[in-house]
Amino acid sequence: MSNKLAGKVVIITGTGGSIGREAALLFAREGALIVGAGLGIADALATVDAVRAEGGTMVSMQPCDLSKAADCQALVDLAVKTFGRVDILFNNAAMAYFNWIEDISDEEWDRNRREEVDLVFYLTRAAWPHLKASHGVIVNTASLTALMSFENLGSLAHTTAKAGIIGMTRQLAMEGRHHGIRANSISPGVIETNQTREQLKDPEWAEYMLGKTLLGRLGRPQEIAQVALFLASDDSSYVTGTDIVVDGGMHVW
Ligand SMILES: NC(=O)c1ccc[n+]([C@@H]2O[C@H](COP(=O)([O-])OP(=O)(O)OC[C@H]3O[C@@H](n4cnc5c(N)ncnc54)[C@H](O)[C@@H]3O)[C@@H](O)[C@H]2O)c1
Repeated sequence: MSNKLAGKVVIITGTGGSIGREAALLFAREGALIVGAGLGIADALATVDAVRAEGGTMVSMQPCDLSKAADCQALVDLAVKTFGRVDILFNNAAMAYFNWIEDISDEEWDRNRREEVDLVFYLTRAAWPHLKASHGVIVNTASLTALMSFENLGSLAHTTAKAGIIGMTRQLAMEGRHHGIRANSISPGVIETNQTREQLKDPEWAEYMLGKTLLGRLGRPQEIAQVALFLASDDSSYVTGTDIVVDGGMHVW
């Protein structure tokens, strides 16, 4: 490893999940001090164990419901109390709810917004003073569904939310420019994770999505973590206000 994040304090959300766990492992191998967070206690703690087993440094807050502003503040406080600063914020956690327009209740619409948009806003706002102090970096997680529609995916709420993340990221980059803060997002295509596992058991659905990739396979969580590392590190020092699509070429046709 090349120690791309040596000594950097990184908050990664959703570290009990698929992409979040891979990011925690990868960033720790690059020398980062990891502050994780998750809703599920066992999943989040398993990631802490995995990082420490490799000799990495990680603390974590669980349960931590990031759709609540108070939990977001507590997570930032944990980072600052433990490591004294925040250099990088990887807003990875989110929960999507899928339905066609006529089936989406007010409650579902609101829940999707809280669990895909509000959590990014609350945590970024809480971390902002520390990111200003460190001239830090924000990596947000959007989705290919923000940029294109799939005829087999009732994703109105999710699409709207993730399009919001791309817009929020661009605005954060603009507001952060005076403080040396960079902000970018990643738009994954279909990645094999906890969140897609059930849906991928439907052979017709899986076949359709697979048929849309140019690379002939679905993505792996590590392949999103690698792009997050690029955006979090100085390798992307001239990249801000943009979105990187990581989809095996799904957007092409
Ligand atoms: N898997 C894909 O195909 C795909 C595609 C596009 C975007 N994404 C995005 O990638 C990110 C990671 O998802 P994943 O696929 O690894 O799924 P995952 O379910 O494995 O991980 C998501 C994690 O976020 C956590 N989380 C959700 N809501 C939370 C909340 N309110 N507070 C705290 N933690 C919360 C969950 O507990 C879980 O650990 C998400 O933002 C998702 O929208 C995934």
